[in-house]
Amino acid sequence: MTASNTISAAPTKRFFVEMLVRDIALEDAILDLLDNCIDGVVRTAGGAGDEPYKNFEARITMNPGLFEIKDNCGGIPKDALEKAFRMGRPDGGDKGGAATVGMYGIGMKRAIFKLGTEAKVASRSPDVNFEVGISPEWLKNEDNWQLPISYLEEVKSDFGTTISVPTLTSDVSARFDEANDNFISYFKNSLSSNYTFIILKGFKVFVNGEQIKPQPFNLLVSSEEDVEGDKVTKGSLKPYVFRGEVDGVSVQIFAGLSRPLPTDEEIEKEEEVRQSRDDAGWTIICNDRIVVYRDKTRLTGWGEASVPSFHGQFISFSGLVILKSDDPWKLPLTTTKRGIDASSELYLSIKDFMREATKTFTSFTNKWKRNPEERTALYKAASPMSVAQLQATTASYDMTKSKKLEGTERYMPLLPVPKTDNGTVRISYARPRAQFVKLAEKLFETSEVTPRDLGETTFELVYEQLVGGSK
Ligand SMILES: Nc1ncnc2c1ncn2[C@@H]1O[C@H](COP(=O)(O)OP(=O)(O)O)[C@@H](O)[C@H]1O
Ligand SMILES: [Mg+2]
Repeated sequence: MTASNTISAAPTKRFFVEMLVRDIALEDAILDLLDNCIDGVVRTAGGAGDEPYKNFEARITMNPGLFEIKDNCGGIPKDALEKAFRMGRPDGGDKGGAATVGMYGIGMKRAIFKLGTEAKVASRSPDVNFEVGISPEWLKNEDNWQLPISYLEEVKSDFGTTISVPTLTSDVSARFDEANDNFISYFKNSLSSNYTFIILKGFKVFVNGEQIKPQPFNLLVSSEEDVEGDKVTKGSLKPYVFRGEVDGVSVQIFAGLSRPLPTDEEIEKEEEVRQSRDDAGWTIICNDRIVVYRDKTRLTGWGEASVPSFHGQFISFSGLVILKSDDPWKLPLTTTKRGIDASSELYLSIKDFMREATKTFTSFTNKWKRNPEERTALYKAASPMSVAQLQATTASYDMTKSKKLEGTERYMPLLPVPKTDNGTVRISYARPRAQFVKLAEKLFETSEVTPRDLGETTFELVYEQLVGGSK
């Protein structure tokens, strides 16, 4: 005879909470809270237009005794409230309807548990005003999965959410101590890159009162159709453009030069041009969130197929992939939503075009490598354009339908080509710096000259003496 009984398989709260926070970095946990603010805006205001996030903001306070994030992004409405505190989405994942990134129903709770042992979530939306508290006792109580909620009188304005964590874990408290840890300044920097596109679209983020500035993305674009002259044959600086709709995801790619090609000196002194190097590479954004930032690895196609690996020569290259979908499950995101799912079919098909774009500009760079003097002609009438300007300007480009991927089209720029070096020879050599300084001072009465100036002058002097005036 068999006795039919049951035995508990319920998770302990402690185990559950520990598992939840184990694999997430503090920074990412906090970014999840900010993502919810943006989702709030998209839910209330739709998120369309040039500055969809204008007038919306989040203010973060972080110090050893408190974490708080306060936004004016609409609050948690009644129909979202029931699910908002469940860990995981009871319906297995909302199939969207708005271009948000909320997917798993875990971000807010996970962030709270990562930060501390006591928290309050206060929200004011047009149809409900409430406060929910999480206490250390609740965290210890194995049987109770219900959270206390107080409903307050409804309000007519100031809709938004405030999450405060007044008791931080000792780890987090130490990291929020600016005297002993650089987490806060690191976090501000990371926000400034991660939230660039959201800030550029009008959102304001403050950390301990300091407004975070964006790190703009610009590409050089010639206003003239063709650059032509002694130094170059026809062509002009234009970006590579790709756009279309792939499996329910809108895709846009812009790639080109974010700055003039590096000089030999810059390539040699790579340390000094760190900044430019940091600006180079591929950036991918999904529903306005940056998921890949200025990448220079195989992830974005460098060193794959016929594309060269990234190196100092290519610090001028910058590419941007903009993905958007009303259904976040269609985006090629990793489960942390802070990375691209490199094996996604959608991403692999887009990557072909990214490689094509990279290739276009690496071969352009290679062609011009040996013509530093003539390169200024390239930048003739070229000026930096923001993403919004790029979108507007390239709208009228003559695009070609892509045969490889249905529903997409692309623009391959016809870039300027250097006129062949008709009979010139390049001389390059190294000499002791002390001798360089001595000679420069003799010739120019200063050592503040470039090696090229000195090289050309000495060559001309010797030429005149030994061969004569004519060149
Ligand atoms: N700052 C906020 N503004 C508006 N709604 C919010 C905010 N924070 C959380 N929410 C609501 O709480 C829900 C749960 O958030 P979260 O745990 O991050 O899961 P997810 O974002 O995946 O749904 C969100 O879906 C949203 O409805
Ligand atoms: Mg979320």
